[in-house]
Amino acid sequence: MSTRINLAQALHEAHSAADVIARLSGVKQHDIVLTLGSGWRESAASLGDVVAVLPAAEIPGFSGGWVPGHSGVIQSIRLESGAHALVIGARAHLYEGRGVQAVAHGMRTAAAAGARTAVLTNGAGGIDPTFSVGDAVLISDHLNLTAVSPLIGADFVDLTDLYSERLRSIARQVEPGLQQGIYVQLPGPHFETPAEIRALSILGGQLVGMSTALEAITARSLGMEVLGVSLVTNAAAGLSGPIDHLDVLAEGRAAESKLALTLKRLVDALPLPG
Ligand code: HPA
Repeated sequence: MSTRINLAQALHEAHSAADVIARLSGVKQHDIVLTLGSGWRESAASLGDVVAVLPAAEIPGFSGGWVPGHSGVIQSIRLESGAHALVIGARAHLYEGRGVQAVAHGMRTAAAAGARTAVLTNGAGGIDPTFSVGDAVLISDHLNLTAVSPLIGADFVDLTDLYSERLRSIARQVEPGLQQGIYVQLPGPHFETPAEIRALSILGGQLVGMSTALEAITARSLGMEVLGVSLVTNAAAGLSGPIDHLDVLAEGRAAESKLALTLKRLVDALPLPG
């Protein structure tokens, strides 16, 4: 997808993608979209009945996942409630160089497929020292430090309740121990310096990563209610030892079965049409 794109083109491509997903999966409408980041990939299968597994590269505007730890497939899953979930394991990151519109495409496609709720998950560095590696933390707000917006034109969207208070309170009813934190999105792909982490901490950041905020803005602009959850895969730079992407992935894998249970409980508690 070109980085210079107008809104009509972007929406057209999202509708084409949604049409292909509906045709290949046989599911006309998806009620909820989930994006699975590091550590969350295995959660998909336990959410319900897998109706279709579609290679992302076959869906307009998506590319096969080349980032280790990301699955490169889009799944259609029928939840216990009867609602249909679109599960995106092929998240586009800003650091891939395909531009912010490629990042927005997943949420635009989900909205075109009918989704009214977005559950965005990621693996993140923990800035807040009270978070431990392996913790799942609800995102309460974000700092978008990518210096870009996914929105095109005069789309002045209110982000006051971006990470829905209502959905977070439902999540905390089913998982009372869940902590909450402010997520900082940076463009990556490099990890941060210790000085940057100290600065982010002063700014109020408690989690740091390279995804999610831009997707959340896109989802909100399309009328979706957003729930965000991070897995703390490592202590942020300067707070422990050096950060190695392979260790980040290994922590993700170690947490996978616990996260699958958590995510299923959260998703089953969400108010969705069934
Ligand atoms: N920084 C940025 N992104 C990340 C990190 C981190 O420490 N851990 C996982 N994704």
